[in-house]
Amino acid sequence: MKKNRDGGIPYLRKKGTATQLIVDGEPFIMLGGELHNSSSSSLKYMEPIWPRLARLGLNTVLAPVSWELVEPEEGKFDFAIVDGLIEGACKHNLRLVFLWFGTWKNTSSSYAPAWVKTNLKRFQRAQLGTGKNMDAVSCFSKAACQADSRAFRTLMKHIYEVDGQEHTVITMQVENEVGILRTPRDRCQMAEERFVQQVPRELMKHLQTHVECLTPYLRNVCEETGSKTAGTWKEVFGSGADEVFMAWHFAKYVDVVARAGKVEYPLPMYVNAWLGPQHEGQQPGDYPSGGPVARMMDVWRVAAPNIDFLAPDIYLEDFRGVCCEYVHSGNPLMIPEARRDEQAAANVFYAVAQYDAMCFAPFGIDSIVEPHPLTASYRLLSEMMPVITKYHGTGRMIGFADGSSYSPGFNISMGGVMRGFEQKLGSYRLQVLFNKPLEKGKVPTAGLIIATEDDEYIIAGAGFTLSFAPKPVEDSNVEILTLDEGRFENGKWIPCRRLNGDESQAGRIVYMGNELGVYMAKVYSYP
Ligand code: DGJ
Repeated sequence: MKKNRDGGIPYLRKKGTATQLIVDGEPFIMLGGELHNSSSSSLKYMEPIWPRLARLGLNTVLAPVSWELVEPEEGKFDFAIVDGLIEGACKHNLRLVFLWFGTWKNTSSSYAPAWVKTNLKRFQRAQLGTGKNMDAVSCFSKAACQADSRAFRTLMKHIYEVDGQEHTVITMQVENEVGILRTPRDRCQMAEERFVQQVPRELMKHLQTHVECLTPYLRNVCEETGSKTAGTWKEVFGSGADEVFMAWHFAKYVDVVARAGKVEYPLPMYVNAWLGPQHEGQQPGDYPSGGPVARMMDVWRVAAPNIDFLAPDIYLEDFRGVCCEYVHSGNPLMIPEARRDEQAAANVFYAVAQYDAMCFAPFGIDSIVEPHPLTASYRLLSEMMPVITKYHGTGRMIGFADGSSYSPGFNISMGGVMRGFEQKLGSYRLQVLFNKPLEKGKVPTAGLIIATEDDEYIIAGAGFTLSFAPKPVEDSNVEILTLDEGRFENGKWIPCRRLNGDESQAGRIVYMGNELGVYMAKVYSYP
């Protein structure tokens, strides 16, 4: 069962404008799925799930590991479930991302062990303005931070001991959707004392040296108060003070936990966000205040250097907008939660090819109904992984998906509906028109195009028609010189039919039909 894998501990590596996850020496895209919250608490329950996940085409499973099960009694650790999960994943050739449900899961402390939950004197709770205790431990509780850090450190030590050579576990999520709900800021006594203190120098320094690249929201709130160089939270951040204050302190807490874990085993670590504001008028506290939402990214990155990236849980319609926000100032895109509907099979193309995403994972993957179009998308992307990762960060690859305005270039709309787009890539202008909508649930209308040379393209996907227009105006005739269908095997192109005549309208189009396919086209132009 044990696999000896070379290449060292999984790590992050910059490639052009992208950041890649390197697993056993190779760039790796997590074609994943996140389990329901309680599934991984029972190895028996997981038994029939593993083969289904492998059949679905996943290469990575995101699985919760909870503090309450790992350290049921203070100082007494039980890693039977962790070991069983690693064993189960390994047996089915799957990698794992463990989600550390420690002090917080969706803002509450429901996954903290009973000895933490019931000792409010030692592990103080966050409080509402009324002084009323909340269901969450306060991020100002030093004792909780210490206890969580010790548990996480012990967990990482154990993972290193049992999996440090095989790297079944490739990334860790620290806590889950942190932040405070129902109030914009914690009102416990410790929080109130801190709120009137000066904003830490390291944050002030970052604000001053990065004015141009701050998220627009943060820049605005600072400008509204006259771009102060020092002051209390209220003086510096005015109307944004509560959220910035909470973001700073949550990030500091989580950073201590992550740092403790990395001492034992420095896997890449991230936090995930419950997004907000999700509509106009929504205030911090209506969504988790202080969580790693897009507008708090700068604060999190300064306060939590041991957190390698911030990841959005995308359930919103505006998939594109969220991806866009989360690649702010080089943050690599990881999507640990998304809807598991048919659109997922299309969105994965967009995320992986357009935004160089290192992970896409629909939530509740264990209850997905088979057959699901995600399987075909994952199979294709998996075969193409070496070639996709080769073009990450180069600007020579685009990804797109129908169903919303998920296009990289100029939209082509008809009757208010987006029907395709135009985009320059290589030496030519590409026009992509989506075919008529297909029967729901069949295949995604989505794809990716890579300019391997200025006049050579790899085209993958389904449900669209690609044509080429000249870039230099003097060459008014553009045609496809050769068009081959084929597939990738370990990154190597294996051609099959040469397409011409009816299949390419005599060299004018690449027609992507109702099945996901891969094509290689060479294009030429003449006056
Ligand atoms: C977001 C959380 O992060 C998940 O753990 C899960 O509770 C989902 N919401 C449920 O939709």
